[in-house]
Amino acid sequence: MEKDRIIILKGHIIFTPEAQRFAIYENSYLIACDGVICGIYDVIPEQYRGIPVCDYGENLIIPGFVDLHTHAPQFNQRGLGLDYKLLEWLNEYTFKEENKFSDPVYAAGVYDAFAEELLRQGTTRVAAFATIHRESSRILFQALYRRGIGAYVGKVNMDTNCPDFIKEDTLLSLQDTEKLLQEWAGNGLVKPIITPRFAPTSTRELLKGLGELALTYQLPVQSHLSENVNEIAWVEELFPEIKEYHRVYQAYHLFGQTPTLMAHCVHLSDAAVQSMAENGVVAVHCPDSNLNLTSGIMPVRKLLTAGVKVGLGSDIGAGHSLSMPQTVVKTIQLSKVMQVLDSQYEPLTLSEVFYLATKGGGSFFGKVGSFEAGYSLDALIIENHSAVQGLSPLERLQQFIYTGTAKDITERYIAGVRRAVFEAD
Ligand code: GUN
Ligand code: FE
Repeated sequence: MEKDRIIILKGHIIFTPEAQRFAIYENSYLIACDGVICGIYDVIPEQYRGIPVCDYGENLIIPGFVDLHTHAPQFNQRGLGLDYKLLEWLNEYTFKEENKFSDPVYAAGVYDAFAEELLRQGTTRVAAFATIHRESSRILFQALYRRGIGAYVGKVNMDTNCPDFIKEDTLLSLQDTEKLLQEWAGNGLVKPIITPRFAPTSTRELLKGLGELALTYQLPVQSHLSENVNEIAWVEELFPEIKEYHRVYQAYHLFGQTPTLMAHCVHLSDAAVQSMAENGVVAVHCPDSNLNLTSGIMPVRKLLTAGVKVGLGSDIGAGHSLSMPQTVVKTIQLSKVMQVLDSQYEPLTLSEVFYLATKGGGSFFGKVGSFEAGYSLDALIIENHSAVQGLSPLERLQQFIYTGTAKDITERYIAGVRRAVFEAD
């Protein structure tokens, strides 16, 4: 085996092979070949002897984080207008900000900053919305590709019920989407995903065309589902022939016919939860966003128990931070609020939510988010900045998740390649 294809990292290795427990290997070697993990060893096996070791000493080695729902063009909008609820917030802030992406120069600046911040925060895989604009969507693909971040990127489609300045012609919307996906479909790390914004801003013709594209090109789908009560009532008005929100997507082959991400899923009927489980649709929990826009709380435990796959999303700019550790904390805290409201509700544990932010969400990208053999080497090195002496590696991970910052992340590997960030304050 050629030695330059092998990477050996040494440190305290922690990950969640299953939701219920952390696997912890102190002072061990994580070995990967061509970016794929071969195993974890306490002594370097014979065949790997002589290969240089990246020795991280007392530092932690954990999987990179996976953000399954975010809006790259809303990066500059973080924190703005969050006294509004969803539909008002879209009209007062979001559509106006996204309109600026008709200018590729503006897009390039924002998308560079977005990609840089993702990497800084330790997000190694992301599913991102762009805007309706083909040229600036291409710039987002490129910004992520240049940094080696694993991604699904969606040019947004919307052709009704939005201001004229951001409303697409249906046919052009489909043509632009097809052109862009043909350019990026073969790419290993940054790939296209079909992205109707949400049912209310989609005509039936648009949904039909997007469903056909997803099937023809076997592409995944991402959208929003049941985030806000006014949104849900609006969908029922707009699609009276279809009885429930999720069935709108289902009617047009956008609900599990290919791998599908649905952000929010806050207010689902039992039938909708069951349909998510049966169709393998991933529910993406975005706690900051749901709190900021007073949307509600996704009953994550209920969805997990029903067999729905769940991932986590930052959902900027409705969420205000790209930090997945902070998203983990919010998810746990909200599950405790649920228990306060209903003593029967079982809160989520740190290992369960760490799993959602790594292996759970990572499964959308293939073998990603764990350190088992065969998984992609997506890893972060977490330096010990704790003032507390004598903590175990697991306690240090706990403290990093709750109190750490991007500065505690000293190295990032994605698919076996070390990626540098330009440190910002
Ligand atoms: N629903 C439709 N568009 C959006 C968006 O940009 N953000 C959120 N949070 N929900 C949406
Ligand atoms: Fe969103």
